[in-house]
Amino acid sequence: MWVNGAPGALLLVTPLTRSLFSHDCLANNYYGSFGNDAKSVFIPPEACFDAVATGSFFESGSLTLASRPVEQLVWVERAALDASLIDGADDEFASFLGRLEAEADTVAKRQQEPLGVPSEAGYELLYRSQTAALISVSTTTAWTVDTLLPRFWKSTLLPTSPVDFIEVPEDAVKHVKSVLSTLSFSADVAAIVDSISIPQMINDIRYLTGEDGSGIESRHSFAEGSRVAADWLKARFEETGATCELQPFRIGFTPNVVCAYPSAVESNSTVIFSSHYDSRGSFGSLRAPGGDDDGSGTIAILALARTIARKGVKFHSNVQLVAFGGEEQGLLGSKAYARTLREANTNITLMVQADMLGYHAPGEPAQLGLPARIGTPEVAQLIANVSALYSPELRVGYTAACCSDHQSFHEQGFPATQVFERAGPIVDPMYHNSGDLSDREGYDFEQIKSIAKVQLASLLHTAGYEISK
Ligand SMILES: *[C@@H]1O[C@H](CO)[C@@H](O)[C@H](O)[C@H]1NC(C)=O
Ligand SMILES: *[C@@H]1O[C@H](CO)[C@@H](O)[C@H](O)[C@H]1NC(C)=O
Ligand SMILES: *[C@@H]1O[C@H](CO)[C@@H](O)[C@H](O)[C@H]1NC(C)=O
Ligand SMILES: [Zn+2]
Repeated sequence: MWVNGAPGALLLVTPLTRSLFSHDCLANNYYGSFGNDAKSVFIPPEACFDAVATGSFFESGSLTLASRPVEQLVWVERAALDASLIDGADDEFASFLGRLEAEADTVAKRQQEPLGVPSEAGYELLYRSQTAALISVSTTTAWTVDTLLPRFWKSTLLPTSPVDFIEVPEDAVKHVKSVLSTLSFSADVAAIVDSISIPQMINDIRYLTGEDGSGIESRHSFAEGSRVAADWLKARFEETGATCELQPFRIGFTPNVVCAYPSAVESNSTVIFSSHYDSRGSFGSLRAPGGDDDGSGTIAILALARTIARKGVKFHSNVQLVAFGGEEQGLLGSKAYARTLREANTNITLMVQADMLGYHAPGEPAQLGLPARIGTPEVAQLIANVSALYSPELRVGYTAACCSDHQSFHEQGFPATQVFERAGPIVDPMYHNSGDLSDREGYDFEQIKSIAKVQLASLLHTAGYEISK
């Protein structure tokens, strides 16, 4: 529970810089960094109030004194959107606050009736920028925030005690750089990655979205279709020779699907390529097909698995292909898994998350976007250089779209990045919409294949491999 749970908790929200951690008042009271701009949240104890209030050790930030006990903090953030999708965003936020107030009051009433314990009604808005906000609510209300948010907004629960600020160790970065510096075109790698099958990807996405009559209506974290999808993914990955586990991380959420290929040689390193298979639909609708977000990333890692099996690839490193759950509720599945790997001191040499690979505006060329802020720059550079070698048809650039499951790994000090469909913000009109199907204008399987080629080539070059057929 909160050390600073009493009214009067002081919250500092400030851009993340390493120098912040040289002062104990902040270093020991860090609650994580959030959103497109990686805003860091600190909750210093009372003894630090004067020092923090004078602002002598941070340059720009927002300080707020909470007027009620802080039970659970929730960061909410609007996705980085193309101007064509931004319309009435402020009205949307105001109506969200209205819904939140009503929900919090209902929750408080429901809890007080049987237990007779006072529970905090309403909410407190502790920080607000144009595209983000930090809100204090009761623990129970916190779980409903996701369902009350406007379509383009996402929520993340803050931890209830301080966390360590962990940087990616120099050795891990050095290893990525050494892969990058010895990178050169291999005809063998090209032959493997070129064989990725688009017709197979079409079949796979049509199953996951329900477009083929599979019966999957929704892959929302709590939906039955999400359970069906998890079992189906496990079976498909296992057909390719992987050993898979469904790993639950929180009650009510469908599990992470974690699939492993053992190394063919003695190795203590692990390379991870991932996606998230949960999805979100339109407000109030049960349908959440997630054809682009993130069915596209999921069929791409499945395409890696199918190609590994077809070509008889054996790796010289441990390799995992992972489809995370609970991404849309604040990277919950990947946070749990990354924490487990950190605790086990796993030697992860590369982690690459694929989230939204399928869409670009009609008329735009095929693209590959890399995160401008969140992740390890050297890993993004490696992906960019691999793309130039094996998918020169892709226009590579940076994107402000952010905060997928690679962030959970980066936070634990693992070298990580994301691959995304555009060298710019989100432009998919069906983003977080019940119309996010694969059979529509702008959904480009050629682009998904091109990006999957980059993923597989990066995997082969980083892990090392042999052909056993
Ligand atoms: C990556 O590609 C860029 C652009 O072609 C090139 O200038 C750079 O030298 C490459 N990096 C490495 C380490 O090879
Ligand atoms: C892991 O393997 C590398 C050689 O690939 C070796 O240098 C390193 O010491 C090993 N680490 C551990 C913890 O065994
Ligand atoms: C992690 O794996 C890499 C690649 O095999 C190796 O170079 C490095 O020494 C390993 N690190 C540790 C701490 O074992
Ligand atoms: Zn996503």
